[in-house]
Amino acid sequence: MHYIDSNVKRATDDLRDDHKIVKRLRNIAKKCSDNIYAGHDIPFDDIKNIIVVIEEFIDRCHHSKEECAYFPTTKGNDPTMDEEARALIIEHEFGRRIARFIDKSFGHYRENKDAREPRAFPESIR
Ligand SMILES: [Fe+2]
Repeated sequence: MHYIDSNVKRATDDLRDDHKIVKRLRNIAKKCSDNIYAGHDIPFDDIKNIIVVIEEFIDRCHHSKEECAYFPTTKGNDPTMDEEARALIIEHEFGRRIARFIDKSFGHYRENKDAREPRAFPESIR
C-alpha cells in the first residue's frame, strides 16, 4: 500500500517556501543596489550578510536541492521542464559568478583599492 503522510512536507513545497525567501532577499538586494546607485552609503556588513545568504542559503542549500535532487528526479517527464531546468542551471552558474565578482570587489574595497563601495554593474561590463 502506498500513501503519503500528510504531516510530511513535500519536497516541491519546500522548494516553493525557499523561493519566497529568495524573492524577499532579491527585494532587499535590489533596494540596496538602488540606494548605492542613488549615491547613498550602505553599511558594509549589510552587503556582506546578503552575500553570505546568497552563497550559503541560495546556492549551497536551495540550488543544490534543485540541481542534485529535483531536476534529476523530474528529468525526462516533460521536455519543456527539462529545457527550463537547463536554463536554470545556467542561471545558477551566472549567479555564482556574480557572487564571486561582488565578493572579490569587496576584497578590493577592504584593501582600499577603490575609493567607494563597488557598484553592482560597473561601466566596464555594461
Ligand atoms: Fe529555485
